[in-house]
Amino acid sequence: MKTIFVTGASRGLGRSIVEEALEQGFRVIAAVRSMSNLLDHENLTYIELDNACDESLTTLASRMPEECSHIDVLIHNAGLMDKSLDFRLSDNVKFGEKLLKVNVLAPIVLTEVLSSYLELSHYARVVNITSGMSSRGLDTHKSALYSASKAAVIKVISDLGYFLDANGIKGCSVGIDPGWMKTDMGGEGAVIHPNTTAKNMLLTLVQLYEGGVYSAAGIKLEYS
Ligand SMILES: NC(=O)c1ccc[n+]([C@@H]2O[C@H](COP(=O)([O-])OP(=O)(O)OC[C@H]3O[C@@H](n4cnc5c(N)ncnc54)[C@H](OP(=O)(O)O)[C@@H]3O)[C@@H](O)[C@H]2O)c1
Repeated sequence: MKTIFVTGASRGLGRSIVEEALEQGFRVIAAVRSMSNLLDHENLTYIELDNACDESLTTLASRMPEECSHIDVLIHNAGLMDKSLDFRLSDNVKFGEKLLKVNVLAPIVLTEVLSSYLELSHYARVVNITSGMSSRGLDTHKSALYSASKAAVIKVISDLGYFLDANGIKGCSVGIDPGWMKTDMGGEGAVIHPNTTAKNMLLTLVQLYEGGVYSAAGIKLEYS
């Protein structure tokens, strides 16, 4: 059975990915910060993970459920957004550090920590969730640090591809731009239900054999 590991599985896109992955026949390991409001399914196991906490990240492998022998799709979905209109973070530097840790650093550390599980996949996909807000073409000057973090993620995606190669892991590193979704982060004005994104992205992911950034529907995107 193909296994998906997804972070930020408590709500929003992450929860939709869990539901859709179960629907599509995957075994799912769902990482959440707190064990509340959980779904129940025979192919679903929850694991506690705080992506902003060094110890939680680095000890993850030792806490992995016994029934998980390998990971075919690793989805770095957990994300944080700043709502400021520009880089005015001087009164909240700690929040800025946390945002960069969750959005940029955690996917790098987690890929390494879980690499022995990726190695045992026939063909692994390591997935980061990108955002149109990282693109100069969509420069809104809103949520400046979030946008910068998602620009950094584009580079991380390409470097994780080298990491997989260098460590003899068969697979590819991809970004999925999920579109503007009706979640706590996306807000009420958003246009896409996260279930639609989750369903499309899972169908896309199992067919991808080339790194890069794609829409959930599988169209390759160029970022500048
Ligand atoms: N919504 C959009 O329109 C949109 C557009 C482009 C990209 N994205 C990206 O899509 C992904 C999912 O976004 P969303 O809209 O579903 O956001 P969301 O509704 O705000 O959910 C964020 C998720 O991240 C988790 N998270 C936050 N901080 C965490 C931490 N320190 N450790 C572990 N988990 C943490 C949250 O867990 P808790 O419940 O514990 O807080 C929650 O599960 C993000 O990477 C986001 O940047 C979203």
